[in-house]
Order: sequence, then structure tokens, then C-alpha cells
Amino acid sequence: MVDMSVALGGARLPNPLMTASGCAANGKELHRFFDVADLGAFVTKSVMAQARSGRGTPRMAETPSGMLNSIGLQGPGISAFVEQDLAWLKGVGARPLVSIAGSSSGEFADVAAALRSSDAFDAVVGVEVNISCPNVADRGLVFACDPLASAKVVALVREQLPRDMPVFAKLSPDVTDIVSVASACVRAGASGLTMINTLLGMVIDTDRMRPQLGGVTGGLSGPGIRPVAVRAIWQVRAAMFAGRFPTVPIIGAGGVRTGRDALELVAAGASAVQVGTATFNDPRAPMRVLQELETLLDAKGYAAFTEVVAAAHQR
Ligand SMILES: Cc1cc2nc3c(=O)[nH]c(=O)nc-3n(C[C@H](O)[C@H](O)[C@H](O)COP(=O)(O)O)c2cc1C
Repeated sequence: MVDMSVALGGARLPNPLMTASGCAANGKELHRFFDVADLGAFVTKSVMAQARSGRGTPRMAETPSGMLNSIGLQGPGISAFVEQDLAWLKGVGARPLVSIAGSSSGEFADVAAALRSSDAFDAVVGVEVNISCPNVADRGLVFACDPLASAKVVALVREQLPRDMPVFAKLSPDVTDIVSVASACVRAGASGLTMINTLLGMVIDTDRMRPQLGGVTGGLSGPGIRPVAVRAIWQVRAAMFAGRFPTVPIIGAGGVRTGRDALELVAAGASAVQVGTATFNDPRAPMRVLQELETLLDAKGYAAFTEVVAAAHQR
């Protein structure tokens, strides 16, 4: 038996496997396939201040080794989310990692404040800040593409939450220098980082000679992006080792389908792993990946999961 437990910015989790935001709604659907309380954490769909219907259809397109989505941030808004979804997750004993979003830095702060004052807040193990949203005040420039804008959001969210509540900044790979964004977020008070969100892509329907997605562009996810996730995690973890900014835990995401895929992200420096797109064709994927990872670590002679975090950096 391998000790799979992990501490993430103060939260103690029984194992490092999580859902990825937006790929498992808010838990009820997956709970028919396995007990969501068995996950290290359940990451909820990014929630904004008000209810939103998302982008126009079609909102999904297949690609050779992944998919493109332009769901947009569809959701019930923070009030309905805390009353219905968060209360339900607390009721079944899950460990919710709540993903929040905003179209202005003030909206992120408002969502964090509303979350804090909710009845089920005591069940929350962390807040993931989805900074891959367009900033309406800055010509729609995505917060995560700018270190200063990212840091401002993280600092405002941090102010709204108790000091011991872990805050994870979720980074976009669509930047020239992900280390500078990671550094800005950590210096602004992030207790950890989640990497990576989807890559911006586009598919053209060559029969209709039009963009295939209603929203024109979309986020690329699935196996094809795994090397990008491994590279991003590696670069950020290497910068921490080099002392460029304080070491904080990284949650890895991007194209994980098997325990071996998860191990790749972990060896690059991730202390936890999220499974997103794989859940669409195998709803049990996060728990299967956990079992496969544990079996693999056992076969390699590891006694504890934490021993293998960032192991590929050792020379
Ligand atoms: C349909 C869909 C919806 C998503 N919605 C969100 C979201 O609301 N917030 C967020 O931070 N990431 C969202 N993501 C990104 C995933 O959480 C994850 O970072 C990304 O898909 C890479 O992991 P994967 O290859 O395992 O899917 C979404 C991804 C997909 C495919």
C-alpha cells in the first residue's frame, strides 16, 4: 500500500486525484458512477456573480487527439451555486475546491466574498481562481495573459478569504512566459497554482466554409495538450527550485487519461492531478487514474505519493 495522502496549501487530502473544472458539472452526475467523496477534491465548474447561459451552439468540436469547447462560463451564479451545489457537495461529504471566475477583478472579489459568507463554506478545501477570462475593462484581454492583471485578481480574492483558505491560481498556457505569471500570482498571495487551462484553438468546417464552433474559437483539451502541461509544470517547478519565487504546490491538469499520464505531470512537479476531458467518455476516469497511479507507484517501490513529486528534476 502506498500512502496517497497529500497536503495542498494547508488542505490535507486523502489522495491527489481531482476532477477538472467544467468537466464534471457540480458533482451530482458523477455521483451516479462513484462516490465523489472518494476523490481528493471535487473541483466545481467556474462560477460567476450572476447566472449565465454561456456561448452560442455548436459548442464542441472533435480534434485528432482532443476536443475543442466553447461552452463559455455557463452557470447558475454564486447565490444559487452555494445554496444548491455547494450544499449538496457538503451533504455527501465531498471536499469541494470551488472554481470562481469574473469579467472584472471586482467581480472575482464579490464572488469570493459571497462564497465566504455561505453556510457550506466550512466544507470548502480551497478556491481555484480561473483567470482565463476576458477582462471587460481591458478590451477583453484575458487576465491570465498578463502578470499584473493576474496578480491583482489573486490579491483581491485573497483579501476576501480567511488566511488559512488555500487559493490556487489557474494559469493559461497561452502565454510566452508562464513563469512570470506564476511568480506574480504567488507573490500576490496564491497558496498554489493549477496548470493548465485549455489552449485557444479553432476548427473550420470545410463543407460550410465557416468556423465550426458558434463561439468561433474554443479551448483545446485532451491527450494532445499533455506535453504542453508537462512543459509548463516543469518550467514553473524549475523556477521554484532556482529560488525565483517561493515554492507552492502545483495542481496538474491537461490530457490525463491513465495513471501513467498522471505520473508524468507529477514527476514534472505536480502535487495533485485533475482529470477533465477523459471523464466525458469514462465517467469513472478520475478514480481509475487514482488506482492505476497507486499500482504504478507500488510497483516502482515508492512508499508515499509525495516521494515522486518533481522526481524527474533530480539528477
Ligand atoms: C467542456 C469543458 C469545460 C471547461 N470549463 C472550465 C471552467 O469552467 N473553468 C476552468 O477553469 N476550466 C475549464 N475547463 C478546462 C479544464 O478544467 C482543464 O483545465 C483542461 O480541459 C485540461 O484538462 P483535460 O485535458 O484533462 O481536459 C473546461 C474544459 C472543458 C473540456
